[in-house]
Amino acid sequence: MAASLVAVLMVMLGVPWQQTPLRPGELHRSHAQILEGRLASQRCASCHPAAKGSLLQWFVSAGDQHAHVTQTQLCMDCHHATIPQARATWAHHLSEQQLDAISKQRQASGESWHDRLPGPPFASTQVQCSACHREHHGANADLTMLTNQQCQTCHSDRFASFADGHPQWTRYPYTQPYTISFDHLSHALKHYAQGGPDGTSLDFDCRQCHQIDHHGEVSRVNPFEQSCAGCHQQGLEVEIGAGLDWVSVPSLPVKPDKPEQWPRSATGFYDGQITPLTRLLLASDAEATAALRELPAADFERVDSRDPRQQLAAEEIATAIAGLLESAANEGAVVLRQRLRFQGASVDTVQKVLAGLSDELLEVAYREWFIDGGQDALAGEAGAVQDTKLPASEARSPVTGWQRDAFRLSIGYRPGGHADSVLTGLLDLVCDLPTHSKLTAEILQLPAVAACVRCHPLRTSQTATRKRPWVANRSSEKRKTFTKFSHQPHLQIPALQDCQHCHQLNIPLADLQHAGLVGLQANPSDSAGQFRLLEKNSCAACHRPSAAGDQCTQCHNYHITP
Ligand code: HEC
Ligand code: HEC
Ligand code: HEC
Ligand code: HEC
Ligand code: HEC
Ligand code: HEC
Ligand code: HEC
Ligand code: HEC
Ligand code: HEC
Ligand code: HEC
Repeated sequence: MAASLVAVLMVMLGVPWQQTPLRPGELHRSHAQILEGRLASQRCASCHPAAKGSLLQWFVSAGDQHAHVTQTQLCMDCHHATIPQARATWAHHLSEQQLDAISKQRQASGESWHDRLPGPPFASTQVQCSACHREHHGANADLTMLTNQQCQTCHSDRFASFADGHPQWTRYPYTQPYTISFDHLSHALKHYAQGGPDGTSLDFDCRQCHQIDHHGEVSRVNPFEQSCAGCHQQGLEVEIGAGLDWVSVPSLPVKPDKPEQWPRSATGFYDGQITPLTRLLLASDAEATAALRELPAADFERVDSRDPRQQLAAEEIATAIAGLLESAANEGAVVLRQRLRFQGASVDTVQKVLAGLSDELLEVAYREWFIDGGQDALAGEAGAVQDTKLPASEARSPVTGWQRDAFRLSIGYRPGGHADSVLTGLLDLVCDLPTHSKLTAEILQLPAVAACVRCHPLRTSQTATRKRPWVANRSSEKRKTFTKFSHQPHLQIPALQDCQHCHQLNIPLADLQHAGLVGLQANPSDSAGQFRLLEKNSCAACHRPSAAGDQCTQCHNYHITP
C-alpha cells in the first residue's frame, strides 16, 4: 500500500501539474473569458508564477526561474491601465509622504480619530492584490467583495458600525470650484423672487438646471438654453450687440506720406480709437508698437496737434493699419491668422476666432476705401455692409457675422448669440497669449467679451495652462477619490425628492425669515459655501446594517487616483 502510494505521488509530482486535480474552484467570469483560448498551463501561469513548471515546482519553487515574479506583477500585466504600475502595492496607491500628509491634515483640523489611529500593522508599500481579491470562488463571485475587517487591518481603530463609531466629518460633500459663475443664494432669494422677464415670481427649482439623467445621476449644470436663457438671453443680446471692431481706419488731418491715397471720409481731423484687437494685430509690428506707446490711450482724438512726436506716431500707426489692410486685401485672411499665430495663438483658436471672415470682404474693403478714394459704393444710408451684399433694407437690421462698416471704415464682427464661435475663440485666444498682459485685460473689458466673462470667469491658472473650460466638470471626468456617492438610489426614495434634504442652501437666518422660505433649517453659525455641509447623521438614519447597508466599500474606494 505504502509503496503504491509513493508511486502514485511520484507520478503526480512528475507530470505537468495542470493535469492533476489541483483545481481550487472556478475562476471569475471576466478572468475565465479572457483566458479561455489559452492552454491550461498558460492559463494558470497568468496569475501563478509557479505554474510554469511541474507540480513539484508549484510547492518547491526555489529553483524556478520565475521565482522573483510576484503574483501582483502578473495581475498588473493586465491591470496596468487602471492601476498605476509603480504604485500598485502602495496603500491606496499613495506614497508614504502622501499618506502621512493626509493623516497630518486631518489631525491638524482636529476632525478625525486619526490621533487615536495606530500605524498600519504592515508596510504600506507591500500590499499584495491577493490580500483583498480572492479568486476561484466561481464565475459570478464578486471579486471586489471585501469585509470591513479587511479595511480595518490598517484602519485598525475599529468601530462597531457606521452609525456607531465612524468618525464625524466636517468637509463633505467636497466642493469643486465652479466653472460657471453662479450664486445660488442671490438667485434663490432675490432674482427668482423678482421673477423672470415677465415679472412672475418663479420657483427656485433645482431640476431646471440640474437634470436627472437616465442613470439617475444629476447633471453638473444643464445647457445655457435651459438654465439661464430665460432670464439672461435678452441682456446678453444687448451686451454683445456692441459687436467687435477688429480694424478701423483712423482719421487724420491730412493724408500721410504713404499710402498714396487716404480715404476721404477719414481725412479732416484726428479721430478714432485704436481698439485692443487692432493693437493685437499690430503687436508684431515693432514700429507701430513703439508709436502706440507715444499715443495717449490709443485714441486719435487725444492727439495733441502741437506735439510733433504724437503727430508722427499717429501717422505711423495709420500707415501700419493701411499696410495691414493692404496685405490682407492681397493675400486674404491668412495675413490676420499669421499675425495672431505670431502672438502665440494656437491653430485651433485662430481658426475659430476668424471663422467666416472671407478674403472677398477684405479685398473689397481695401479697394473701396483706399483705391476708389474712400467713397464706398455701398455706403448709401446703410452703414453696415454685410459680407454678402444685402439689399439696403435688410442690411439695416442687426445682421450677424463679419461686416465692413462703410461710415466708420471698419471691419468688425457682430456675434450671433450665446456660445458664438468668434467670441468663444476670442476668449480662447486670451488664454493662448503668453502672459496676462494689459492688452488682454483690455480685450476682456470689451462689452461683448465682458458679457461672456460674467458667467465664464477667466482664472489666471487657465491663462497659464492655456486651457479654457467652457463646460462644467462632469462627474465622469472626476478623479477617483476616497469617498464615492451616487444620487441614483437616493432619488428613488420619496423622502429625498427634495434636493435640499441634503443640499441645504446656506441662508443666513435673517434672510430666511425675510424671504419667508419654508422647509429650510437655518444654522447661522455655518459660514462659507453656498450649501451647508452634510453631517454623518443625515446618512446614518438609513445607512445601518439592517437598512441601506454600512459596508466600508459602499461609500469608499480603495483604488484612488493618486
Ligand atoms: C486571474 C488570476 C488567477 C488565475 C488565472 C488562476 N488563479 Fe489560482 N489563485 C488566484 C488568486 C488571487 C489566489 C489566492 C486566492 C485567495 O487567497 O483566496 C489563487 C489561489 C490558488 C490556489 C490556492 C493555493 C495558493 O497558492 O494560494 C491554487 C491551488 C490555485 N490558485 C490554482 C490555480 C490553478 C490550477 C489555476 C489554473 C487553472 C489557477 N489557479 C488560475 C488567482 C488566479
Ligand atoms: C490575462 C489578463 C488578466 C490577469 C492576469 C488578471 N486579470 Fe483581472 N481582469 C481581467 C479582465 C479582462 C477583467 C474584466 C475587465 C475589467 O474589469 O477590467 C478583469 C477583472 C478583474 C476584477 C474586477 C471584476 C469585477 O467584478 O469587475 C478584479 C478585482 C481583478 N480583475 C483582479 C485581478 C487580480 C487580483 C489579478 C491577479 C491575481 C488579476 N485580476 C489578473 C484580466 C486579467
Ligand atoms: C495597507 C493599509 C491600508 C488598507 C488595507 C486600507 N487603507 Fe485606507 N488608508 C491607509 C492609510 C495609511 C491612509 C492615510 C493615512 C490615514 O488616514 O491615517 C488611508 C486613508 C484612507 C481614507 C481617507 C482618510 C482621510 O483621512 O481622508 C479612507 C476613507 C480610507 N483609507 C478607507 C479605506 C477603506 C474603505 C479600505 C478598505 C477597502 C482601506 N482604506 C484599506 C491605509 C490602508
Ligand atoms: C438657474 C440654474 C440653477 C439652479 C436653479 C440651481 N443650480 Fe445648482 N448649480 C448651478 C450652476 C451653474 C452650478 C455650478 C456648475 C459649475 O460650474 O461647476 C451649480 C452647482 C451646484 C452644486 C455643486 C456644488 C459644489 O460645491 O460642488 C450643487 C450641489 C447644486 N448646484 C445644487 C443645487 C440645488 C440643491 C438646487 C436647488 C435648491 C440648485 N442647485 C439650483 C445652477 C443652478
Ligand atoms: C429667474 C431668472 C434668472 C435665471 C434663470 C438666471 N438668472 Fe442670473 N440673474 C438674474 C437676475 C434678475 C440677476 C440680477 C440682474 C443682473 O445682473 O442681470 C442675475 C444676476 C446674475 C449674475 C450676476 C451676479 C449675481 O448673482 O447677482 C450672474 C453671474 C448670473 N446671474 C448667472 C446666472 C447663470 C449662470 C444662470 C444659469 C445657470 C442664471 N444666472 C440664471 C436672473 C436669473
Ligand atoms: C448667464 C450666464 C452665461 C452667459 C452670460 C454666457 N454663458 Fe456660455 N454657458 C453658460 C452655461 C450655464 C453653459 C452650460 C455649461 C455646461 O454645459 O456645463 C454655457 C456653455 C457655453 C459653451 C459650451 C457649450 C456650448 O453651448 O457650446 C460655450 C462655448 C459658451 N457657453 C460660450 C459663451 C460665450 C461666447 C458667451 C458670451 C457671448 C457666453 N457663453 C455667455 C452660461 C452663460
Ligand atoms: C442623500 C443626499 C442627497 C440628495 C437627496 C441629493 N444629493 Fe446631490 N449630492 C449629494 C452628495 C453627497 C454629493 C457629493 C458627491 C461627490 O462629491 O462625489 C452631491 C453632489 C451633487 C452635485 C454636484 C455634482 C457634480 O457632478 O459635482 C449636484 C449638482 C447635486 N448634488 C444636485 C442635486 C440635486 C439637483 C438633487 C435633487 C434632485 C440632489 N442633488 C439630491 C447628496 C445628495
Ligand atoms: C432615506 C435613506 C437614505 C439616506 C438618508 C441616505 N442613503 Fe445612501 N442609500 C440609501 C439606499 C436605500 C441605498 C441603496 C442601497 C442598496 O442598493 O443596497 C443607498 C446607497 C448609497 C450608496 C451606494 C450607491 C451606489 O450606487 O452603490 C452610497 C455611497 C450612499 N448611499 C451614501 C450615502 C451618504 C453619503 C448619505 C448621507 C449624505 C446617504 N447615503 C444618505 C438610502 C439612504
Ligand atoms: C454610508 C457611507 C459610509 C460608510 C458605510 C462608511 N463611510 Fe467612511 N466616510 C463616509 C463619508 C461621507 C466620509 C467623509 C468624507 C471624506 O472624508 O472623504 C467618511 C470618512 C471616512 C474616513 C476619514 C475620516 C476623517 O475625517 O478622518 C475614514 C478613514 C473612513 N471614512 C473609513 C471608513 C471605514 C473603514 C468604513 C467601514 C468600516 C467606513 N468608512 C464606512 C461615508 C461612509
Ligand atoms: C485593500 C484591499 C485591496 C487591494 C490590496 C487591492 N484591491 Fe482592487 N479593489 C478593492 C476594492 C474595495 C475594489 C472596489 C472598487 C474600489 O474600491 O476601488 C477593488 C476593485 C478592483 C478592480 C475593479 C475595477 C475598479 O476599479 O472598480 C480591479 C481590476 C482591481 N481592484 C485590481 C486590483 C489589483 C490588480 C490589485 C493589486 C495591485 C488590487 N486590486 C489590490 C480592494 C483592493
